[in-house]
Amino acid sequence: MCGIVGYIGSKQAEPFLMEGLSKLEYRGYDSAGIAVFNGEKIVVEKSVGRLNALREKIKGHIPQGNIGIGHTRWATHGCPSDVNSHPHVDCHGEFAVVHNGIIENYLELRKELMARGHHFASETDTEVVAHLLEECYQGDFAVAVRAVLKRIRGSYALVFLAKAHPDMLICTKKDNPLVIGIGQGENFIASDIPAIINHSKESYILNDGEMAIVRADGVEFYQTVSGEKFDKEIFTINWSAEAAEKNGYEHFMLKEIHEQPKAIRDTLSGRLDITNNRVVLNELNWSLTDLQNFHRIFIVACGTAYHAGLVGKYYIEKLARIPVEVDIASEFRYRQPIVDEHTLVIVVSQSGETSDTLAALKEMNRLGATTLAITNVVSSSIAREAQKVIYTMAGPEIAVASTKAYTTQLIVVLLLALYLAGLKQTIEPTEMEKILCHLRDLPEKIDMLFAQTETIEKLASHFKDKNDAFFIGRSLDYAVALEGSLKLKEISYIHAEAYAAGELKHGTLALIVPGTPVIALATQRHIHEKTISNIKEVKARQADVLAIVPRDNTSIEQVVDHVFYIPETVDLLAPILTVIPLQLFAYYMAVARGCDVDKPRNLAKSVTVE
Ligand code: M6R
Repeated sequence: MCGIVGYIGSKQAEPFLMEGLSKLEYRGYDSAGIAVFNGEKIVVEKSVGRLNALREKIKGHIPQGNIGIGHTRWATHGCPSDVNSHPHVDCHGEFAVVHNGIIENYLELRKELMARGHHFASETDTEVVAHLLEECYQGDFAVAVRAVLKRIRGSYALVFLAKAHPDMLICTKKDNPLVIGIGQGENFIASDIPAIINHSKESYILNDGEMAIVRADGVEFYQTVSGEKFDKEIFTINWSAEAAEKNGYEHFMLKEIHEQPKAIRDTLSGRLDITNNRVVLNELNWSLTDLQNFHRIFIVACGTAYHAGLVGKYYIEKLARIPVEVDIASEFRYRQPIVDEHTLVIVVSQSGETSDTLAALKEMNRLGATTLAITNVVSSSIAREAQKVIYTMAGPEIAVASTKAYTTQLIVVLLLALYLAGLKQTIEPTEMEKILCHLRDLPEKIDMLFAQTETIEKLASHFKDKNDAFFIGRSLDYAVALEGSLKLKEISYIHAEAYAAGELKHGTLALIVPGTPVIALATQRHIHEKTISNIKEVKARQADVLAIVPRDNTSIEQVVDHVFYIPETVDLLAPILTVIPLQLFAYYMAVARGCDVDKPRNLAKSVTVE
């Protein structure tokens, strides 16, 4: 939610600010702005709409200066508009601020500040920060920032620019990410690595409660509460700059769908020990006694990561025979779950920054659970908060719609289930061997699926004008149906619902009329016949049915209207293959409907507000 950048150095600030914002647009894209100090004053330029609107607006009068800040917004307080865009300034244009997060006590602060004569230009929560800074400032910029932080409540990543201190930017954070890229005679600030990766691989990751004074030739760190100075370790970014580019693909989503074989290989690398018939998870190092301490497991996540958790439940319960509950993070923390030192809480998050998931994780740590994060971003807030971490090796995922993060999350939850099952000896060695061999072969099978892309494109063109769609399946297929339906609604704006196939007849079947699109997943052999009966129920109401089935199931052709075959694998691994045509289907539907695939309306990649 919201992308923020900052630059200080010998070059012009604007090129980095605009380039950095373009790399962060996935975090929010309803308006954008920059503030640059030109030697005399802070020049602020902002515009509602995409970054291009701002680009057009400043054409011919680009603010000149070697220090500046920028912001791309996902509106929370106040509609998207020029005035509500960041940066925000105080009454006299002495300070400018960009913010990601929410200032929870902004209304009372705003009232107070207005009573003392401050004039507000916007409806945002952020503007109070600029006015507070104006009040707290008595010549020492850092002291004033620390005083402001004492007054505000909520979550934030903040970057401050002061006219009287053109040699420094100050930044700080709580519950929202900030990274500082280290350059030669210049330094960069950003919400996320893609903004700085073209300029620096050496960086500092700011923690909650820390403040950085960033100058062209160095960075100093202070604790915000005590004011104590400290040194910070350099973090080396291991993503390549190309990984954050489209590399010839029309959209990031399509590129990321095609990166799945590599992402899966990377995630499996070093973890599949076929010779010794075991899974290696050095990150855990658990003994059987450790495992016996876990009386139950919670998997907590949001959106697509939650759907990966549903598959994880199935894997862990089936293979390791430990009871698992899966919860939506925003519900979990408020429902007083029964958690104690015998509970293992697994949080799943691509970004490692999702506010709801992070808050649930903090609460579980407080309650004494063992916590384990499955995340894609090294050193993210969730990675640092959890007691143990297993990384998915998907590389940067830029498109709002999650694809390769999901399949690599499935890989990790399966590896985890196999690891637990190996320790507990709840799996036969032959079964373990079979799954490990099929896991190794998965990337090749995904490549085989890509060879059928044209079939998906044709199906998308057939269904593109529909307003509703249903995804059905049983068992693991149901969990994947949920993900398929989320993908479709998220980027093509078609209303889609996922149903456990056996549940349709308890109400929803009333919505099936001639021509209603039904995408039926039928990959699980133990309930195959049951699923076929449910497919026949929708066919009897003349639904237009696309079935996704294993290659040997040709008899389905007599039952449904369209069939898409997935390569042969063990049933447990079918989700990782089945989701690929569903991702492609959503993608081509969105393209056919002229939707903005990578930046769907109302959404943002990293959801750092509650
Ligand atoms: O970064 P996270 O995995 O924690 O994000 C969770 C969800 O916000 C995310 O999966 C969202 O549902 C995606 N846009 C789905 O494609």
